[in-house]
Amino acid sequence: METNKEFATLILPEKDPIRIPVITDNMGAKSIDIHSLRKDTGYITYDPGFVNTGSCTSGICYVNGEQGILRYRGYDIEDLVENCDFVEVAYLLIKGELPNTTERRRYAELLNKESLLHHDMQSFFRSYPFKAHPMSVLAAMSVSLSAFYPEMDDIDPELQVDLAVTRLVSKVRTIIAFIYRHMKGEDFVNPSYKYSYCENFLNMMFKSSVIEYQINPLYVKALNQLLILHADHEQNCSTTAVRLIGSSDANLYASVSAGICALWGPKHGGANQAVIEMLEFAHEQKMSAQDIVNKAKQKDSGFLLMGFGHRVYKTYDPRAKIAKRLCQEVLAESGETDPLLELAMELEEVAVNDSYFKERSLYPNVDFYTGLIFRRIGIPTNMFTCMFAMGRLPGWIAHWLEWNKDPYGKIGRPRQVYSGPYIRKVQSLNDR
Ligand code: ACO
Repeated sequence: METNKEFATLILPEKDPIRIPVITDNMGAKSIDIHSLRKDTGYITYDPGFVNTGSCTSGICYVNGEQGILRYRGYDIEDLVENCDFVEVAYLLIKGELPNTTERRRYAELLNKESLLHHDMQSFFRSYPFKAHPMSVLAAMSVSLSAFYPEMDDIDPELQVDLAVTRLVSKVRTIIAFIYRHMKGEDFVNPSYKYSYCENFLNMMFKSSVIEYQINPLYVKALNQLLILHADHEQNCSTTAVRLIGSSDANLYASVSAGICALWGPKHGGANQAVIEMLEFAHEQKMSAQDIVNKAKQKDSGFLLMGFGHRVYKTYDPRAKIAKRLCQEVLAESGETDPLLELAMELEEVAVNDSYFKERSLYPNVDFYTGLIFRRIGIPTNMFTCMFAMGRLPGWIAHWLEWNKDPYGKIGRPRQVYSGPYIRKVQSLNDR
C-alpha cells in the first residue's frame, strides 16, 4: 500500500486549499485519507450507509464489484470451492495461510475436541418456544458462550484467543444443530470424533433412532461449498458490526453475536429465507416470472426482488454463479425437478434482460440460489440464515482478530450531521 505520493486538493469556503493524501491499495484502488480532516479544517464528511467510506485497511478479502471477483487471502473463490473444504478455508481466513497436512489434521482434531456444548447450556434451548426464530436463539447462545467460557476476559494470552476462536467455529455448528432438534422436539445428538466438520453437522441435525440416516456425500460436498461461499465478504453489514463491537474491546463471543443479529435482516443474510418465501408465494399464487419482476419495479409496492442487487457487485455475483451450478448438480442427483428452481431461473432470465434491472446493475446475489440447496439437504427455511452465519463465522473472526492487531485501530464512533432543535427549555409538566 502506497501513501503520500499523491495528493488531492480540497477547496473549502474561506479557507486556503489543503492537500489531502491519496492512498493506493494493493490492487490499485485509490482512497482519499481524511482521517485528520476535522482536526485540520473543522469539517466532517457525510456518507449515509458508508457508501464511499473505507473504515479500515484489511488483507483478508478482496471484492471487485465491477469485474465480479472475490478472493480470500488472494485465492479466487472458484479455486477454493473446487480444491478445499470448509475447515481449510476457515483456517486460511483465520490464520492467513492454507494449512499443510499436519496443520489440517491437528485443526480438525481440535475442532472435534471443542465441539461439545457445556451441559448446562443445553437447558437454555429447552426454555425457548419451539417457534422462536432460530437466529434469535443463535445470537443468544453465541453470546452465552462468554458466560460458560469466560477465559477470553483474562489478560489476553494468545493461546486463550486461539482456544476461543476454535471453540466458536466448532460450537456454533453444534448450537445450530441443537436449535433444529429443539424446534422438532427431538433429543440432541452430540458431535462424534468419527465425522468431518460437515458430516458431523448433518449427523447432529438428522440422525434418528427410528429411521436410519445415511450421510449423503453429495450433501457433504454441497455444504462444504456453500459454507466456503459464505465465509467472508470484506466490510459487509455484519462484519462491520463485529468490528464495531470489537472496537470497544468487547470479547469475541459478544462481537460475533452482534454480527449474527446484523446478518438476520432480509436486506443482508436474511435474504436467503426471503427468496424461498418469495418463490413459494409466487408459485402458490401462480405468478409468472414477469409478474414478479413487474411487482419489484413498482416503487410503491414495497416489494423488492429478493436475492437481487448488491452494494458492491454491479455484475453477476461470482458466488451466485457457483451456487446456481451446485443447485443444478444437487437436484440432478435426485433425478427430480424443483418447480422453485425453474421459477428462479426464469426470474433471473426475465430480470437480467429488463431495462429497470439493467440500468441499476441488479443481478442475482449469493442468496438467490443457496436456499434451494439448503432446502434439498433438508434444512428448514427459517434456518437458512443460521447456515449463512455458520459459513460467515471464520470471516467475522478473522476481521475481529485483524482489528485487534491494527495499530490504527480506534474505537468505532462515527460523527453525525445534527438535524434536531437548537436549544429548548424544559416546561413544567402542567404546561406541556
Ligand atoms: N429489487 C428491486 N429494485 C431494487 C432491488 C431489488 N432487489 N435492489 C435494489 N433496487 C433498486 C433500488 O430501489 C434503487 O432504485 P432507485 O435508484 O430507483 O432508487 C436502486 O436499485 C439502487 O438500490 P439501493 O437500494 O440504493 O442499493 P443498496 O446498495 O443500498 O442496497 C441491497 C443493496 C440492500 C442488497 C438491495 O439491492 C436489496 O435490498 N436487495 C434485496 C435484498 C437482498 O437480496 N439482500 C441480500 C444482499 S447480499 C448479502 O447481504 C449477503
